[in-house]
Amino acid sequence: MTRGFVSLVGAGPGDPELLTLRAVARLREADIVFYDALVDRAALAHAPQARFAFVGKRAGRPSIEQRTIETLLIRHARRGERVVRLKSGDPFVFGRGGEEALALAAAGVPCEIVPGVSSAFAAPALSGIPLTHRGLASAFLVVSGHAPEAWRPALQSLPPGAATVVVLMGLGSRAAIATALLAGGWSARTPAAVLLSASRREAHTWRGTLAKLGRADVDSGAPGVLVVGATVDVAAQLERLAAPAALSGGAR
Ligand SMILES: C[S@@+](CC[C@H](N)C(=O)[O-])C[C@H]1O[C@@H](n2cnc3c(N)ncnc32)[C@H](O)[C@@H]1O
Repeated sequence: MTRGFVSLVGAGPGDPELLTLRAVARLREADIVFYDALVDRAALAHAPQARFAFVGKRAGRPSIEQRTIETLLIRHARRGERVVRLKSGDPFVFGRGGEEALALAAAGVPCEIVPGVSSAFAAPALSGIPLTHRGLASAFLVVSGHAPEAWRPALQSLPPGAATVVVLMGLGSRAAIATALLAGGWSARTPAAVLLSASRREAHTWRGTLAKLGRADVDSGAPGVLVVGATVDVAAQLERLAAPAALSGGAR
């Protein structure tokens, strides 16, 4: 890694074993690491020479402006430092990584993207839910549940059962999303799951149906992914067939 350079690095869903080899290499050489709220602190142990700066946004608390983060990345790279911007999952999936890459490019700061293991597919996989499965689903749709204008048009455009639906940042809107899918003609018996803190010690999975998703009793303070579609039932089949330890929601 050359000096005066920024690596936008995906840290995966939490478990440091899901960091890529390239992510570990960039951390090992970093002079400073700017990290987000959902980054597991264990990942920072791979950066022995670095200083650390928390720049996470936490719900309900004052948080650092996006523009300030971009200014900090540019300032430290211009000082000749090896800067790692460490984001949960993949930096280009609901992580504002694209905005940071554009800001760096506009400032003439060299930058690279180090892809990460996104919770969009890691959380389902760790729970035994394939996003595609022959005969059940040949497509999947990933949406943000953050605001209705983000998910409603995408879900309304999807014929019932046409794809596995994955929702990030959607715990608080699970009732509204379930209602919208039911209104769009999805069967109330469609399997559904809520996957909390995937790959972490406190990982927890709720499984039920679309009819019950809105009332699922889950910890809304944990990071979570909603999954709706026929492939959710594959997890139940795997549980019946596989050794219990094989599917633990990815808990370490
Ligand atoms: C701002 S988005 C960042 C997504 C990230 N860039 C990715 O690719 O996973 C934060 C959302 O990611 C999801 N998320 C991140 N880590 C998770 C985990 N370990 N288990 C379940 N969901 C997770 C949750 O939906 C959370 O609200």
